[in-house]
Amino acid sequence: MNYLILPSLLSADVTRLGDEVDAVLKAGADYIHFDVMDNHYVPNLTFGPLFCDALVKRDPNILIDVHLMVQPVDALIEAFAKAGAKRISIHPDATIHLDRSLQLIRDLGCEAGLVFNPATSLELLPWCIHHLSFVLVMTVNPGFGGQKFMTEMMSKVSRTRALIGSRPIWLQVDGGISTETIEIAADAGADTFVAGSAVFKAQDPAAMVTSLRELASKS
Ligand code: DX5
Ligand code: ZN
Repeated sequence: MNYLILPSLLSADVTRLGDEVDAVLKAGADYIHFDVMDNHYVPNLTFGPLFCDALVKRDPNILIDVHLMVQPVDALIEAFAKAGAKRISIHPDATIHLDRSLQLIRDLGCEAGLVFNPATSLELLPWCIHHLSFVLVMTVNPGFGGQKFMTEMMSKVSRTRALIGSRPIWLQVDGGISTETIEIAADAGADTFVAGSAVFKAQDPAAMVTSLRELASKS
């Protein structure tokens, strides 16, 4: 089984963003997770496409996974695709025409992901699964780093895994992932792990990326 580790820049030192990114990529991080918040869909405000563009210009090989917690989504899908994002995920309740927004991500040459908040039903997944490269099951409510991992989401991860079946779709979890929780999420069926505070608040973020991957592989 292949596991992906995605450090989230939300917990990085923004005054040293380039160095923080370099350190975790050197340690083998697969993507940089880029949390975009608009103080409307979620009560927080973070990075815009200029940051993404700057990181891609600095290192054209960087793979950026953009998690859009914004409403509406379509204009920012376009802006982040133009800024060099590789993957873009959106929340179904942030757009009126979900199929159209997912199609837009793909038309712009990016991989599309769909994100389910803790209380959001998986019911619509079968109707848009053909667009998806990954599904993200939130293990906290979106908006902030450093929140407690919701163990009760593990049955949702398992159910998502069953719905994915044999399709080549990654199953991502985001929120509260650490050395304490990553094995639990991997056992439930996740193969892609976003980790913000666990990585960037660690004494050695690069070593933490390696530890997380080792623990996931043990499951
Ligand atoms: C929360 C964000 C997460 C956040 C995770 O809304 O989507 O990506 O950075 O942070 P940790 O890993 O600290 O829970
Ligand atoms: Zn995120």
